[in-house]
Formats: sequence, structure tokens, C-alpha cells
Amino acid sequence: MNTLPDTLILPPETRLGRGASQQLLELCDAFGGRGCLVCGQSQVRSGALDKILDKQSSDVELRVWLHPGSEPTLEQLEDLLEIVRAHNPQWVAAIGGGSVLDIAKAAAGLHHAPMSVLSYHDGQPIPPSPTSFIAVPTTAGTGSEATMVSVLTNSDTGVKKSIRHPSFLARLVLLDPDLLESCPKEVLAASGMDALTQAIESYCSRGATWLSDTFALEGLRLIHGSLDKGYQGDSDAFLDLMNGSYLAGIALSNARLGLVHGLAHPLGARFHTPHGLVCAVCLPPVLAFNREVISEKYARMSEIVGEDLLAYAQSMVGKLGIRNPFAGKALHDPETVIEETLASGSTKANPRPVAQEDVSTLLNTLFQAEA
Ligand SMILES: [Fe+2]
Repeated sequence: MNTLPDTLILPPETRLGRGASQQLLELCDAFGGRGCLVCGQSQVRSGALDKILDKQSSDVELRVWLHPGSEPTLEQLEDLLEIVRAHNPQWVAAIGGGSVLDIAKAAAGLHHAPMSVLSYHDGQPIPPSPTSFIAVPTTAGTGSEATMVSVLTNSDTGVKKSIRHPSFLARLVLLDPDLLESCPKEVLAASGMDALTQAIESYCSRGATWLSDTFALEGLRLIHGSLDKGYQGDSDAFLDLMNGSYLAGIALSNARLGLVHGLAHPLGARFHTPHGLVCAVCLPPVLAFNREVISEKYARMSEIVGEDLLAYAQSMVGKLGIRNPFAGKALHDPETVIEETLASGSTKANPRPVAQEDVSTLLNTLFQAEA
């Protein structure tokens, strides 16, 4: 196994601690006097946005854009880009969950890009962006603050996939566990299961290195020790949960993922199911599928969680009140889902090679299960 990936991707500056998010505008000054702040609706309701705006210095020209909700679409990105291009900021900061971070990241990254959003989503190469992206996550899960990836859905075709460029990476990350206080329980559960899945999949990925293994295992240890407690409302667990999610994000950014994430995009796009929820229900059957080829790593992870890893993943789904959103539903285009799953970069990084029949079996397991 290599020590480092061919390209090492790490955010250059990360600040963490209670109240860290309130330094946002002061720290953004270093990136220029004109900025855009992209924010989720829940940060308006919780008062987190007001707390940040209270610290605004009079000489910063700031535009605020509220993400309308749901997982980000190309249309939403076009709306945000219109604002960004009119205001022409030197930086775009995001405070919110993975969807808010992903759309703001893409807006900073495509600020000066000459082609349509659709062309880049369809695979046209993305030019480097001079606009800085700053990330303040309010959920512990997606790891978007640590990656150069933005996941976007084309609502016309239903295709959900990522666009990426090294210049998308956040120049500054603020990890503030206080922001988890207002995170709804079901969001905390789903995003926490995304983080858990990302720690496990990046650790087992074909692209794993010493560096990603180190981050993934520590991420797993922190998430294991804090997810259930955080879900029960123990705010002392939030710092570990946020750190664990961030470490898993760095691991995936440098190692890629696996079959759970290969399935998650086509299924999430068809059923409009939150990403973390899809990950939570796909994780146990995919672990069972991979188990025979990852025996050493499986044993190491079982040691960290203090029980058989698959049993642990199943018990967490139950403890967090997660129900299978696909149970008893009909999948109308299984062939296309199989095709999209097999084409995914995540599936290609899965430790066990994946064949068409394997995906078909997994889909049957998910859709024929009891809720
Ligand atoms: Fe994920």
C-alpha cells in the first residue's frame, strides 16, 4: 500500500472549536472585501446566520443567498451563479449541510467558467477558479468541507453525479460543534450514517493509502464514540462527531469510496431520499458482500467498534430510528440503476469487483426488505 495518494488533497486551513463559526466574516476579510454567503434555511431559523452577520464589518460588500432546500440541482446552481456573477465576489462562504456546501462550492468553482453548468455536469473539463470557497458545516456527515467534489442533480434527466476540480477545495474550514445543537435529530442520524459509511468505505477502497487509512480509522473511532450519544442529545459528543466526519471526508477525498456510494446516487436521485439515509440502508448488505475480501481490515474495524462490524452497522440503523425507504417500493428502471452504479467511480474503487448480477441482488435485498 502506498503511503500517500498520487495527489494529496487537504484543506489548507481548518479552525475548530465551540463558537468558531462566529469568526467567519472576520476571517473572510483575508480573501477580499467582496463576498457571497450561502446559507441554509435552518441557519436562518436557528439564528446562526444572525450571529454571523452581527460580526460583519462595514467595509465588506456582502450578498447573502438562501438555499431553497432539497439536494442541489443544476437549476439552483444557475440561480446562485447569476447572483455570484452579478456581485463578482473574491470569496463564497457556505454555512449549512452538505447540500449548501456543495452548491456554494460549485458556484465559487464555476464563477468565471465560460460554459454552461450542464456542460460541466456532462463532463467538460473545468478551468481553475480564483474565487475562494470557505466552508462552515452545520451537520456532521457529508465531509463536503474536506473535498473538491460537488454533487449535483440534473432534474430534467434525474442524473445525480459529482463535478470536481482541485480549486473547488475550501481555502478555510470552520468546524463549530455548537452548530450541531440545532441540527434536527433525523438529519443528525442520516448524516452521521453517511460519515460512518465514508470512514468504512474509504478505509476499504482500492485507492486507500497509509494516509487515508490513518484518517479513516480515527474518523471511525470518533464517529463510533459519538454518533449514538449525539443522537440522544449529548452535546458533549458533538465535537468528536464533527471531527470524525471531517477526518472521514479527508480520507474519502484521498482514497475514494465504494459500492454504497455507487448505489447511493442513482437511488437517491430516483426516490428523492436523503443521501445519508440511502447510505445507512445500503451499508449492511454491501459490508456482507465485501466481507470476504477485506478480512484484515474488517477485523481491525470490528476491534474499533467493539463488536462485529456488520452487526454494529445494523444496530446503528436501528438505534438511530432509520427505516428502509425502499422497502416494498417498485424500481421501474433497474437496468439503468445497475448501469449507473457500475459506471460510478465509487463502485470502481470498491474492494470486491462488482458485476451486474451483484448489483441486481443488492437491489432485490433493498426493495424486497421489510421497512
Ligand atoms: Fe456520502
